[in-house]
Amino acid sequence: MIICSCNAISDHDVRGAVESADIELCSTAQVYNCLGHLVYCGLCSRSVRRILQEPEAA
Ligand code: FES
Repeated sequence: MIICSCNAISDHDVRGAVESADIELCSTAQVYNCLGHLVYCGLCSRSVRRILQEPEAA
């Protein structure tokens, strides 16, 4: 599902960035930087933070 309409970023894109990052990603800006995008309007930040707070799959 697309969670960022400005960048056409999906929840799968965010989870992929989190799983493949060498460091723990803590903010929307860090996630989007990994994906080669910038935060524009910020309406997606709550959705990204919710994904960042998900427990990691064991
Ligand atoms: S919806 Fe993500 S920056 Fe606008």
